[in-house]
Amino acid sequence: MPDSQEPTLVSRIDGLLEAAFRACGLPTETARAVPGTRPELADLQCNGALPLAKSLGRPPREIAAEVAARLKESDAFASVEVAGPGFINLRLSAGLLAQSAEAQLAAEGAGIVHQTPQRILLDFGGPNVAKPLHVGHLRSLVIGESLRRILSAQGHHALSDVHLGDWGLQMGMLISEIRRRWPDLPCFVPDDVPPGPSLPEGSLPLDMDDLQRLYPEAAAACKVDPERMAEAREATAALQAGHRGYTLLWRALRTISLDAQRRDFDTLEAHFDLLLGESDVQPLIPGMIADLTARGIAVESEGALVIEVARNSDAKPMPPLLLAKSDGAALYATTDLATILDRMRRDAPERIVYVVDQRQALHFEQVFRAAHRAGFADGVDLVHAGFGTVNGPDGKPYKTREGGVAQLADLLSDAIEKAREQVEARERGDGEQASDPIAAEDRETLARLVGLAAVKFADLSTYRTSGYVFDPDRMVSFLGRTGPYVQYACVRIGSILRNAEAQGYAAGAIAVDAPAERALVLECARFPEVVASAAANLAPNEVADYVFGLAQSFSRFYTDCPVLQAESDAVRASRLALSVLARRVLAKGLDLLGIAVPDRM
Ligand code: ARG
Repeated sequence: MPDSQEPTLVSRIDGLLEAAFRACGLPTETARAVPGTRPELADLQCNGALPLAKSLGRPPREIAAEVAARLKESDAFASVEVAGPGFINLRLSAGLLAQSAEAQLAAEGAGIVHQTPQRILLDFGGPNVAKPLHVGHLRSLVIGESLRRILSAQGHHALSDVHLGDWGLQMGMLISEIRRRWPDLPCFVPDDVPPGPSLPEGSLPLDMDDLQRLYPEAAAACKVDPERMAEAREATAALQAGHRGYTLLWRALRTISLDAQRRDFDTLEAHFDLLLGESDVQPLIPGMIADLTARGIAVESEGALVIEVARNSDAKPMPPLLLAKSDGAALYATTDLATILDRMRRDAPERIVYVVDQRQALHFEQVFRAAHRAGFADGVDLVHAGFGTVNGPDGKPYKTREGGVAQLADLLSDAIEKAREQVEARERGDGEQASDPIAAEDRETLARLVGLAAVKFADLSTYRTSGYVFDPDRMVSFLGRTGPYVQYACVRIGSILRNAEAQGYAAGAIAVDAPAERALVLECARFPEVVASAAANLAPNEVADYVFGLAQSFSRFYTDCPVLQAESDAVRASRLALSVLARRVLAKGLDLLGIAVPDRM
């Protein structure tokens, strides 16, 4: 931990525990504080005496009592008690809690602890050209963006790459389909192919809606008609061999679809540092294959070129990675392998995290093993952060009412629409709280922020590898474990603070007394540890669980401890400062989830 940063409350207590264990001549590995299992008895507890009992041949309570006697000398604790078989229950002193809250209030990033910076490449999004983003991309974008924010907040150099699916047979299918329909386009007539790197503006009579219609038609035609399939393969091969007209067309198609996909990225506020794709690494492939063959890593098998990746320790069969088929077409795994090579040269990451559907786990295992065997991945940690499916009410992967693949933009507008209904219902006062009238355009912005928060929170609060049911009605509710609930908690604190300011009250020195104040300070103090754990486990759900708990903790504080009506000026000033702290931690936590907080709701 860099010295410039304040130690977290828990690490301070761990330090005191270690010193006490050491002073008693005990090993310090188990000198750790954990949250109290019964908050009415202990803020934190240390169970470290129990595992020592056996090796030392002493009763655990006796060891605990000895440590407790040392701890009592510190003014960090209001009380230290041995309970049960040898737990040490710790109640922190009001002074320490106040100090901790003040320090967190002054800390940047609400106290998140910086790590030794690593270069981390995040591969997420991954849409294919000519296909609009669909439900399958939601989790990759939402989880990927949250991980990007969490890792960046820890001081890492996170670099995001969308890794477009912009190469291969799908492009040939599309090109041959377009050629059938518009054979006179200049890119198809050898003498007319325009000079320059791109087709002249406006020369392609197609937009994203057309592409999105054309592609499935082309794919369906190829499936039933071998002649069409042969045409598509031919076009793919020609494109890959550098056919100028096709290259111009391909580039234009890529641009049209990326422009449309970017609108969805913007809606979700998913940020990409790099917009690279499969096509970018194709030039590396022939050399890579030659090198792997020369070194005996790639071998012939049944007419194809493969890399064996099985290990003796494998419990399940591990098929070899298919590097090249006899027809020489670019393969998914080959491209991913070349992409590792490219990224190592370009960005020298220390870790590459792939936020991709769990169903691709085998693919990534093969690619990672092959990369290690080939020596492409020295000094880089390759991680597949897989995720489960977004499901419909039937528990199966989500489909539209017509049984098709649901488009991401439609899912989002659905949730935004439901959020609008909620916002309007609250304004009318049907809900728990009525609010002041909101101007129409503000209502629009609000519906958007609430709808997106609803979708993101529902997604991120589910453990990554589990699936969940996409249920907009439940997601947008202001009650229960939802994004809007947490967002609202944050907004409400903002309005309390505005009210205070209007009445001339300011935040001041923090004093911690009432149980709900203690609980709130302790909950806020946990934030840095939660973020560190979420980062280590690549698990934004830990942050989602945390902000929900903190919102509840604030709500109890606000019920039990009057702020504006506090019994004295000093208490009011302290509670205002606690409110500022809670708001800051909540807003930062939500920001790590990619959730923005409106000014009012
Ligand atoms: N385009 C791929 C798909 O649609 C996802 C890409 C994921 N990233 C990767 N490096 N393979 O399944």
